[in-house]
Amino acid sequence: MPSQRDVAVLVGSLRQESWNRKAAEAAASVAPAYLKFRFVDIAVSLYNQDLDTDTPPADWKRLRDDIAPADAVLFATPEYNRSVPGVLKNAIDIASRPYGKGVLIGKPAAVLSVSVGQIGGFGANHHLRQVAAYLDMPMLQQPEMYLGSVQNFLSASGEITQDATRELLTKFGGAFADWIERVSVRKQPERGR
Ligand SMILES: Cc1cc2nc3c(=O)[nH]c(=O)nc-3n(C[C@H](O)[C@H](O)[C@H](O)COP(=O)(O)O)c2cc1C
Repeated sequence: MPSQRDVAVLVGSLRQESWNRKAAEAAASVAPAYLKFRFVDIAVSLYNQDLDTDTPPADWKRLRDDIAPADAVLFATPEYNRSVPGVLKNAIDIASRPYGKGVLIGKPAAVLSVSVGQIGGFGANHHLRQVAAYLDMPMLQQPEMYLGSVQNFLSASGEITQDATRELLTKFGGAFADWIERVSVRKQPERGR
């Protein structure tokens, strides 16, 4: 079994009863056990380049520090007006800086998008993929996770209520685990001089 992998989970909704958070928790519950999912609080102040100095706001530093050690990133995002909610884009923008040293850069990633409507956040999912391409984050392609009509397969408390959903989420977790192993740049052991 591969060694433990730390996966930072960024949920694009601050809502107490967020379906996206519940879906991410459900996905985590059926993923290979060596993937350790860590939910990162993305509720931070708005990005302002004027403040992005050697002493950035404390909440930005906390966000960057939380993401930095992760081996991979799982995004779970609602769709707001056919795109990524501002709160998630703001967190990504903060984590993408300082230029060239952003803590997201190069990390393997996957996205699931969840909605109560039928389209399953397709627009947000693909806008996020565009952002990830710029950040050089290798993004899992399959299985695609557009989870529409979420209320039909998750209970209000977040339990998976359909076998087909459990199967899909299990397949997703396995594929993500394989993807992380495939694309991770492994640290080379230091050689003695
Ligand atoms: C400002 C706003 C815009 C929305 N736009 C869309 C949309 O474009 N497509 C969609 O499927 N649902 C849209 N919705 C509905 C969300 O998908 C729904 O509220 C979802 O439950 C939000 O995810 P959450 O439960 O994780 O908070 C929108 C909701 C809000 C508040």
